[in-house]
Amino acid sequence: MTHQEIREKFLKFFESRRHKIVPSSSLMPDDPSVLFTTAGMQQFKPYYTGAADAMHDFGSLSVASIQKCVRTSDIDEVGDERHLTFFEMLGNFSFGGYFKKEAIQYGYDFIIKEMGLKIDYVTVFEGWKSTGLWLIKPDEESKKIWKSLGLNDEQIKTGGFDDNFWGPTGEDGPCGPTTEIYVNGIEVWNIVFNEYYKSKYPEDKNDYKPLQSKGIDTGMGLERLAMVSQKVPTVFEADLLKPILTLTPSELEMRVRRIIADHSRAIAFMIADGIRPSNKEQGYVLRRLMRRVITYNFIAKTDISLMHPERGREGSQRTSTSYGMHDIFAKILEIYGSYYKELNADLIISEFEHENEKFMQTLKSGLKELEKVENVDASSAFMLYESFGLPYEIIKELGGAKAVSLNRKDFDIKFKEHQEKSRAGAEKKFGGHGLVLDTGELKAGNEEELKKVTRLHTATHLLQTALRKVLGPSTDGEVTQAGSDITAERLRFDFSFSRKLTPEEIKKVEDLVNEKIKEDLPVSFVELPKSEAEKTGALYFFKQKYPDKVKVYFVGSSVESAWSKEFCGGPHVSHTDEIGRFKISKEEAVSAGVRRIRATIE
Ligand code: SER
Repeated sequence: MTHQEIREKFLKFFESRRHKIVPSSSLMPDDPSVLFTTAGMQQFKPYYTGAADAMHDFGSLSVASIQKCVRTSDIDEVGDERHLTFFEMLGNFSFGGYFKKEAIQYGYDFIIKEMGLKIDYVTVFEGWKSTGLWLIKPDEESKKIWKSLGLNDEQIKTGGFDDNFWGPTGEDGPCGPTTEIYVNGIEVWNIVFNEYYKSKYPEDKNDYKPLQSKGIDTGMGLERLAMVSQKVPTVFEADLLKPILTLTPSELEMRVRRIIADHSRAIAFMIADGIRPSNKEQGYVLRRLMRRVITYNFIAKTDISLMHPERGREGSQRTSTSYGMHDIFAKILEIYGSYYKELNADLIISEFEHENEKFMQTLKSGLKELEKVENVDASSAFMLYESFGLPYEIIKELGGAKAVSLNRKDFDIKFKEHQEKSRAGAEKKFGGHGLVLDTGELKAGNEEELKKVTRLHTATHLLQTALRKVLGPSTDGEVTQAGSDITAERLRFDFSFSRKLTPEEIKKVEDLVNEKIKEDLPVSFVELPKSEAEKTGALYFFKQKYPDKVKVYFVGSSVESAWSKEFCGGPHVSHTDEIGRFKISKEEAVSAGVRRIRATIE
């Protein structure tokens, strides 16, 4: 069955069972707690919790969709038979409508009757027991339903939390036990019985609250279903990926060709949904995927025989490294264009070309350095990576005879050593408290946390100004800083004000901060004698003693016109856009006349 036929069959099947067909949502979810849409249920989260009304919005308690998804957790596995970063998920959902009996029956009917496949076996939840008590009971009901459909005991296996309980990872949301359907040894369908709402990082049963009304969430990977239906050994040989794989450079090993095929799809769909390569969040992931593709294409297209005559290759008249990518993106359009109108070949190609050009500069200057190195071992390879941004693959591949002894393992060891050294160095600098930064206000335990607290720190400055603008000087007092404490998780800002903030005020403050972040204002400082600094009108914290010479950090193009300016030792981001999305998580009283805001960034 072709992927077109599978799509049609699936949607028809559920439409005729009174499901409303809902289009795929964007890969960039509304929900700021996740980077990408990773499952069909994501756009429906509010319907499970009762925050939105499915009857009102869809005229039905049941819906079905084919959702585009990106998952980055398996990015290093891509290249094997079945892992992908981009995929489509077929799903049917119920929000307080049907439950286990119907959901299992639908799964059975679709796989057996519509797809003509055989179910090897299914799995059900074995339950969750702690200190002799069942916290969540084994799913006997699903077992019974499967039995009534003709599956025998051997065909009904049980699984624990890892395999048979689903909830969105790293975020809060609806969750519950699952039953999975296996065809040809592969899990094709995951049916989730949403009965609970879990907190972001659940620790015990109190973090699983029963949902008011039970729901169904199912997910079936289109690529996997096509693979078993078309009886091919890998997802890359089914009709969604095969035509793309065929266009990847044939001189590369299969694992790498699969990576290019997979990443190209993800790149195309991310660009179509408005993501652009950058150094953070979704943009960072996109840039990483692009650079990996560029690297491999570069290896494929470089005339190695010129650099290393002993490794001559045929047909090495190479032109642009992005040349073959035009054909690949055109093919992606051909396969998906009629389902996803947002795909635009010209835009995808121009974005790709742009990054290609940028990264090629890095590669070219890095290669000049590689020429100079006589023996490429793990140390010199790491130096080339660290100082010149040359990826390991390039060094290994284009280092030729000089790099024969180089291997990934040794390179990774160097990488780790370097990380540990820089951490140790930083700790020494900051007094060996195990913290790389401890200014009293800001605390970070490693480089990654340091980046996060730096972003939160600039956000704190924006927050203070936003509070002053929104609340103004009034009978409730003027906002002045009473304290600030920043960890990698959150900022905490105390300020003088005599009453609780209204939800509207909180929203206004949050919006104003996000507006300034979006404007991508530059952040810089001037160092001035204290008396001069005071004249700039910069805010300072009365409780603190300042030296004779102070830094004034300002957000904007000059101290005079700055939107925010404060006496401060830093560190700060260089542009506000680096902060990411700002969110106030709590507003409360600390003492009479002093309020406390906690906020996070995504
Ligand atoms: N949410 C479940 C999954 O992602 C079923 O759709 O597997």
